[in-house]
Formats: sequence, structure tokens, C-alpha cells
Amino acid sequence: MKAEGLTKIFNRDLVAVDHIDFSVGEGEIFGFLGPNGAGKTTTINMLITVIKPTEGRAAVCGFDIVEQAGEVRNRIGVVPQEYTADEDLTGYENIILCGDLYGIPREASKKRAAELLELVELTRFKDRKVETYSGGMRRRLELACGLINRPRVLFLDEPTLGLDVQTRATIWNYIRLLKEEFNMTLFMTTHYLEEADALCDRVAIIDNGKIVKVGNPNALKESLGGDIITLGIQGKDVGITEFVKKFQR
Ligand SMILES: Nc1ncnc2c1ncn2[C@@H]1O[C@H](COP(=O)(O)OP(=O)(O)OP(=O)(O)O)[C@@H](O)[C@H]1O
Ligand SMILES: [Mg+2]
Repeated sequence: MKAEGLTKIFNRDLVAVDHIDFSVGEGEIFGFLGPNGAGKTTTINMLITVIKPTEGRAAVCGFDIVEQAGEVRNRIGVVPQEYTADEDLTGYENIILCGDLYGIPREASKKRAAELLELVELTRFKDRKVETYSGGMRRRLELACGLINRPRVLFLDEPTLGLDVQTRATIWNYIRLLKEEFNMTLFMTTHYLEEADALCDRVAIIDNGKIVKVGNPNALKESLGGDIITLGIQGKDVGITEFVKKFQR
């Protein structure tokens, strides 16, 4: 995957994504790390051919996102930031529906749905309506839906937003498994520093539509400099402020 000068301007003057360049290798987990409004979802929406860039270009799986959008769509999976599953359907029915949308024959969809439900540990709950699912179960279902067409590249927009620590770790394990077992390329966004650190081979830090830095998480942490030292104190008035001041430069 490669982007060159990729830009999106909304309403003529809102520059959401501002001439960004990056490339992602096959089998790599690439993270877009940035605060709210940085342009992460807008970048994903361009790469998954939902919106067209204002300027610049990008290729996914070797296909141009504008000229060959159909080829791109056939090879990608998407797990969007917002929940998309139909609450009135069961988890199983939602996965089958996604299969239908991709034009996958029913028999194949059924087999894949069973495998995917196993993968995300929802087999037990597959016949329950999604409206009864917890947030973590819904995220896992969204992941399964994004995998129904066996994508080469999977886009994950904030895959663990609002999840507790334990469920987040479970999702991280699925993501690692997709890379290790299927050599899948993963493009994910997050605003959690520790998530980018734990999962990504390389991270691009994006702010105000621009890529500020790209590198592996360790190199980025080093370049940010400084360590965090946590001090614990016993008692109330132990002159901690005076003590710390001694170490300030
Ligand atoms: N359809 C749209 N029309 C107008 N402005 C938009 C549209 N979509 C996004 N924007 C603006 O583009 C900027 C980037 O938004 P985007 O959703 O890409 O950010 P983000 O990094 O995904 O943020 P978050 O972490 O909150 O999901 C924001 O200023 C947003 O208001
Ligand atoms: Mg977003």
C-alpha cells in the first residue's frame, strides 16, 4: 500500500488530510496514531474507496483507489469506527449478510461464518440478537464481519475504542493472529499510545491532517525523549515539591 500526497479537503477549506505520504509492506501492522479530528478516519475512507481524494493518489494491493476501486474493494476488509451490525439480527445472520453483500455463495459464507465465530469466540452467542451483545462482543462481531471475504488487507478504525483492558488485550491477540497466521496486512488507527506500541510494526503520528513522524514504536519513543518516573510517597507533608525541584533542569 502506498500513498503519495494524499489530501482531502471538505467544504473547500477544511483540510482534513494534508498531502500525506506513506507506504505499508505486505504482512505489516501499520498504525495511524493521532488525537480526535486528526484525519485518521478520513484517510481510511479514502483508502477503502468510500470517499475520493481531493488531491494525490494511493494504491492498495497494487490497485489505484480511484481508477480501480472495484479491485481494491475485492481485496480489503473494513472494521469501521462506528458499529454497523444490524441489532435486530443475530450475530450469525449479520456475518451471513456481509457475505451476501460481497456476493459470496451461501454455502461458502456459512462455512466461513462458523470459522469466524470460533475465531472471535462468539459461537456460543451466535443465535442471540446483536441488541443483547455487550460492547466487547459487538467489536468482536464487527471484526468477524470484516473478515468474511478473506481480505489481503484489513482496515481497523479504532478497534478497541471504549473497551476494558481485558477485552482490548483479546482484540490485540486476534490482530496479531491475523498477521502471523495469514500474513495479512493491517492498517489501523488509534489514539491510544500503548495500543500502537503493543501492536504496530510501524506507526505514523498524524496531527492536523499531517504526518508528523513515522517509525517503529521504539524509535519513536526514543525520539520523544525523556522517561516517566513514578514516585510514591508515604505520609502527607514530606516536602516532595522541594525534593523534585532539585532534579529539574
Ligand atoms: N464528511 C465530512 N464533512 C466535513 N468535514 C469532515 C467530514 N468528515 C470529517 N470531517 C472533518 O475532518 C477532520 C478530520 O476528521 P476525521 O474523522 O478524519 O478525524 P479522526 O482522526 O478520525 O478523529 P477521531 O479520533 O475523533 O475519530 C475533522 O475536522 C472533521 O470535522
Ligand atoms: Mg476517526
